[in-house]
Amino acid sequence: MTAQDFMTILDSKSLAEVLREYPLGRDFLANFRLNNLAQELTFSQALLEVEEEALAEFGLDRMGALKDFAEFLKQFTPQENLLAEVKSITIIGGWNKAKTPETISLTISAGEIISIVGPTGSGKSRLLNDIECLAQGDTLTGRTILVNGAELEDIQRFEMEGKLVAQLSQNMNFVMDLTVREFLEMHAKCRLTPNVNEVVAICFQCANQLAGEKFSENTLVTQLSGGQSRALMIADTAFMSDSPIILIDEIENAGINRRKAIALLAKREKIIFLSTHDPLLALSAHKRIIIKNGGIAKVIEISEAEKESLGIIENLDNTMQRLRTALRSGEVICMRDLRESSS
Ligand SMILES: Nc1ncnc2c1ncn2[C@@H]1O[C@H](COP(=O)(O)OP(=O)(O)OP(=O)(O)O)[C@@H](O)[C@H]1O
Ligand SMILES: [Mg+2]
Repeated sequence: MTAQDFMTILDSKSLAEVLREYPLGRDFLANFRLNNLAQELTFSQALLEVEEEALAEFGLDRMGALKDFAEFLKQFTPQENLLAEVKSITIIGGWNKAKTPETISLTISAGEIISIVGPTGSGKSRLLNDIECLAQGDTLTGRTILVNGAELEDIQRFEMEGKLVAQLSQNMNFVMDLTVREFLEMHAKCRLTPNVNEVVAICFQCANQLAGEKFSENTLVTQLSGGQSRALMIADTAFMSDSPIILIDEIENAGINRRKAIALLAKREKIIFLSTHDPLLALSAHKRIIIKNGGIAKVIEISEAEKESLGIIENLDNTMQRLRTALRSGEVICMRDLRESSS
């Protein structure tokens, strides 16, 4: 919705109705000492009863107050439609590290999971960054990212910044001394989540399911381990973020239940890009991009044969997980027992 749409709402609905629908509007009114306006009137009608000097104190006139109120409501109303609006992302090739052109145009639709594989230093994170900043031929790789098949004007790119993409990056450090609960509450409030307590409880529970070692609501975020921080951010992204695109850089290093995490993130019609060195995750995607020397060398769609292999790989992976758990808890390792218990 544009500011103009909100001007129309303000002119057609009573202030009481507007505030019922957009409770944060009260903050705007309080800031300009307009909290005693007659609520059965529209905002403009109610303003007629306010002395012009009272508005002038804040550098406003009646028209200015209406415009500012509409702008405020626009700013603080979550863009509910954004998720539905992004139907596809297209990556148009640039060039690799040797400046050889990437002859590719790859379109990914909402609901698809794409893995990105390739040797260390090949350019997986770089591709995620290109998507994150909605590159328009202006990054190191010369790639262009289209949204719904169209290039973005600078203004759209700016408007979408921070809303389109949620990124779970390789390195994550908390700098604030908040408890887990305070952190989640702060996020929920910033994102204007309606039922804060409920969402915070779900996020906390889910993060603990994903993390190997449990933590409490009162743990300081700065004291969480790498894996616990990652689990917290995954739960946070899954339940609070409305971004239609999720970028994940190397979930496997975190020592968390990664397949569960991906399933959780994929539950809504989002586009997920996942850079990974993990065969199980790479094959859990619908398509995978192979990066070589900074360029997209190949795109493979998962075949039926690969899907069948996934079961065997999952068994192998379970064996590895058991091995990890056994090692961590100080057991003596017998591979035969481990294989039998996972099959
Ligand atoms: N097409 C390109 N042209 C020039 N430089 C590139 C290109 N692609 C990637 N690079 C650069 O190569 C370096 C390594 O890339 P990147 O960090 O993306 O690797 P990675 O595949 O994520 O590695 P890792 O698996 O270790 O995380 C970065 O400095 C990146 O900017
Ligand atoms: Mg990387």
